[in-house]
This record gives sequence, C-alpha cells and structure tokens, in this order.
Amino acid sequence: MEDLKVVIGSDHAGYEYKEKIIDYLTARNISYTDIGTHTKESCDYPEIARSVCERVISGKSNRGILICGTGIGMSIAANKVRGIRAALCNDTYSARVSRAHNNANVLCLGERVIGEHLALDIVDIWLKTGFEGNRHKRRVDMIE
Ligand code: RB5
Repeated sequence: MEDLKVVIGSDHAGYEYKEKIIDYLTARNISYTDIGTHTKESCDYPEIARSVCERVISGKSNRGILICGTGIGMSIAANKVRGIRAALCNDTYSARVSRAHNNANVLCLGERVIGEHLALDIVDIWLKTGFEGNRHKRRVDMIE
C-alpha cells in the first residue's frame, strides 16, 4: 500500500460513520487528519468538502474521505475543486474501479444509504487499490 495520508470530514449526517472510519484507520496505523464535524449538530457540508479537498490539493494529504447523508452533496461540492476526482461509491466494485481507472483522490459515502460494514469494506478496498495508469492515465489527463 502507498504511504497513505488520509484527510476525513463529514457533516452531522455522516458523523457516526466518520468516527467508525477513524477507528478503522487507527487500528491499522494509517495516518489521518480529522477536519470535523465533531458533533451531531447540524452543519453545512460544502464547507467540510472544501476543507478536505484543499488539503488533498495542497499535498498535505493524498486521499480524502467525505461522508454526508447521501454522499451526493459532498461529491458535488468536492468535484468543484480543481484537481479533485471525487467518487461516490455505494458498492465495492465502484470503489475498486474508481481507484484503478479514475485515480479518484476523494471517496464520498452516504451514511443514510449504506450499512456500516459495507461502508468499511468500501473504505478498505478504496485505500488499498492503486491506479492502473496506461490508457486510464490518458483519460484522467483529459479531465485535468
Ligand atoms: C443533511 O440533511 C443532508 O442533506 C446532507 O447530509 C447530504 O445528504 C447532502 O447531500
């Protein structure tokens, strides 16, 4: 596995999964930065998405994870940031291929959409899968 430096953030609707994913990262000694939110009080997901994405673009972190109720708001907001390739994944196949083919640098999850164990499997696969490059690099370069 590459040297992972994860940055993670959620709104109130993704807070519980954020804490579960942090437990997963801690158990595996994966370095992470927690952008918040830190309570279940209502907050605005675009601000969290921007903070996480700016940290990925700066190079301080090399992978971002964003969780909201559906994952949709986070993915829309994240993909507005130049250089971010955010993938909303509700299944493990999408998680794997978003890394292998799209070189996704941000993973978005919906806490109200998928179960906790599936979410953790998606995180596990997404973090472990590398970019295949070759023809996929040409296509990703076209996006950039
Ligand atoms: C919050 O209620 C909810 O709208 C938000 O977490 C997210 O699902 C938006 O896309």
